Amino acid sequence: MNNDGLLRRTLVLATSSIGVSAVLAACTRQGAAAREPKQDSGAGEVTPAEDLMREHGVLRRVMFLYDEAIRRLDAREEVPGGVLLSAAGVVRRVIEDYHEKLEEDFLFPRFERAGKHTDLVAVLRRQHQAGRLVTDDVLAFAREPLREQAARRKLADRLRAFNRMYRPHAAREDTVLFPALRALVGGKAYADLGEQFEEKEHRMLGDEGFEKAVAEVNELEAAFGIADLASFTPT
Ligand SMILES: [Fe+2]
Ligand SMILES: [Fe+2]
Repeated sequence: MNNDGLLRRTLVLATSSIGVSAVLAACTRQGAAAREPKQDSGAGEVTPAEDLMREHGVLRRVMFLYDEAIRRLDAREEVPGGVLLSAAGVVRRVIEDYHEKLEEDFLFPRFERAGKHTDLVAVLRRQHQAGRLVTDDVLAFAREPLREQAARRKLADRLRAFNRMYRPHAAREDTVLFPALRALVGGKAYADLGEQFEEKEHRMLGDEGFEKAVAEVNELEAAFGIADLASFTPT
């Protein structure tokens, strides 16, 4: 089985009932191979836009976790603080400290220098800052026992604000900014960007950083009882 095959198998196992530690151990065993440039399932490397969109997928899954936390907070049901803390930790580590830094260091300046989508980029920059403040609040609230209804309401409001902003934020990047990147920088610089992203991912998140984040959100969805995708199909 090639490396991709092993990885897919690892992630399938993550959706079953085995612990995340076993998944992470399996990922670690493949650490040396993971230093090679990421390959997609067909031919060629993962492009910068695809890389960024995959990370938006992690963000969307965290927002799904936040939706469930909001539902429980509103319904006065138990919200395991550890699950919410871990979900906000994924946002901080993978989205704010890594993904958004890529956008701020490698994408936004190029659009600004070219005078393209500058109004959009200005809003996106401001929203990154606003999102970090919301995550500060979520991390602070999630560390508390959440017994008081007033605190639960405040936390639910912060989670709602996060999802309200980030759903259109990520969608605008996916549909406007990322599709314009290749034409803006040209094919050679676009390929170079892919390698720079890869190098930064290893430095910031370690080997298999994306796969570990996916395994972690799998575990968090299971802890919140929302891991069964089929259960959300309308009947
Ligand atoms: Fe962004
Ligand atoms: Fe983004």
